[in-house]
Amino acid sequence: MIKVLFVCLGNICRSPMAEYVFKDMVKKEDIENDFYIDSAGTSSEENGNPVYYDTREKLRKENIECGDHTSRKLTKEDYKKYDYIIGMEERNIRNIKGIVGEDKDNKIYRLLDFSDNPRDIADPWYTGNFDRTYDDIVEGLEGYITYIKNKVMKN
Ligand code: 4NP
Repeated sequence: MIKVLFVCLGNICRSPMAEYVFKDMVKKEDIENDFYIDSAGTSSEENGNPVYYDTREKLRKENIECGDHTSRKLTKEDYKKYDYIIGMEERNIRNIKGIVGEDKDNKIYRLLDFSDNPRDIADPWYTGNFDRTYDDIVEGLEGYITYIKNKVMKN
């Protein structure tokens, strides 16, 4: 079982989008039983709140099932529990390390570092561009799933 935690700032836009797109991808590839997938935020600002309306709408348009995730803050214990902690941007990565401490087991990654064009995923909470966020997330997840298949699932 590969345990993956997607992390953003508020845990209502980018990381739940990544969570549900990745759940959809592994289901379509018939490897969903190999994964445990969740998301969290580095801030407690949105604690207990559901996935943001525009994220839900984008997932609906793309025919991707959105579950009933509610926002929660990343904890130090998450570092022990998960194999991959995947953030959305550099600032995110710094905040993740601020919460969990040093990345001694090499579990922390930036999503688009799995793509051919490493970069941050802009926060749609501020840009308002959920289509762009979705495209970036799909690009990162395609790179990640290829990485997992080659590096982990083959062994
Ligand atoms: P997210 O977007 O990190 O992609 O979930 C945000 C949502 C809410 C806030 C910030 C970012 N906020 O400050 O409430």
